[in-house]
This record gives sequence, structure tokens and C-alpha cells, in this order.
Amino acid sequence: MNSILKIEKLHKKYYTKQGEITAIKDISLDVKEGEFVAIVGPSGCGKSTLLSILCGLTEKTEGKITFPNPNKQKLGYMLQQDCLFPWLTILDNCLLGLKVEKKLTKEKKEQVINLLTTYGLKDFIYKYPKSLSGGMRQRVA
Ligand SMILES: Nc1ncnc2c1ncn2[C@@H]1O[C@H](COP(=O)(O)OP(=O)(O)O)[C@@H](O)[C@H]1O
Ligand SMILES: [Mg+2]
Repeated sequence: MNSILKIEKLHKKYYTKQGEITAIKDISLDVKEGEFVAIVGPSGCGKSTLLSILCGLTEKTEGKITFPNPNKQKLGYMLQQDCLFPWLTILDNCLLGLKVEKKLTKEKKEQVINLLTTYGLKDFIYKYPKSLSGGMRQRVA
């Protein structure tokens, strides 16, 4: 099977006022196409740090990450907290990225509504996050 993600000897240290924190120490991993991979470990072992590095939210300290197929390089990351803005409707939460990047068009708005419909959220687009269940909020996120 083709490899879609290769992690080699990854290290991550955080530098804080209190000192150096080793979050990841020498992780290597090869993910093949079609595989489901679960990263399991106690709180604070570096799971979130690893995902943040893969998505480019945090810099690695050492090591190599490769995506052998450049078409598979786009990664989505479902955060533990949904991070929806409570003062925006579901639709406005979903349109925010496009608005900030000044890429919002009528067609894109329709596309967003279609996606929300696919996820069973059509009746909630003008509601606020507080009136949705945890699972619904995650689907919005
Ligand atoms: N932004 C940060 N600054 C400093 N230390 C951090 C930061 N984020 C995580 N850490 C530390 O890195 C280690 C791994 O954290 P994390 O990746 O959140 O673990 P997990 O997701 O497995 O619970 C922990 O010791 C945590 O305190
Ligand atoms: Mg975590």
C-alpha cells in the first residue's frame, strides 16, 4: 500500500519561562492509504502536539514529515473543543473563514449551506451554537 504520511524521528520541545518541556521525543510513523490510525496515550503525552505539527499550527523542533503524494497533503483536524463563536449563528460561524479571506461569494455561501444540509444541520443554520448538541457542534466545526 502507498504511504500517505511519513514521520521520521520527530521531536518537539516547548520553551517556556519555566523552562524546556519535551512534548514529543523520537516518534516515527508511517501511515498507508486507507489505514485508520489511533494515537493513544495518557494526558500530556503529546497527542495534540503531534496533530498540531502535522497541520502546521505548531513548529516541530527536529525530524522529518513527508507526504509522499502531494495531492494528499491537505489535512483537516477536528479539535477537541469545537471553538465556535457563541455570538455568531451556525451559518455565520461557517462563513467566517471565507469572510476573513474576502472570498465569500453567493456560490460559496450556497456550497456551505449544501454541506450543512449534508451533515443534517439545515434546520439549524440560523441558530446559535448554544442550542446545538455536542455532536452537532462538532459537525459544524
Ligand atoms: N503551548 C504549549 N506551551 C508549553 N507546553 C505545552 C504547550 N502545549 C502543550 N504543552 C505541553 O506538552 C506536553 C504534551 O501536551 P499535549 O500535546 O497537549 O498532550 P495530549 O494531547 O497528549 O494530552 C504536556 O506536557 C503539555 O503540558
Ligand atoms: Mg490533547
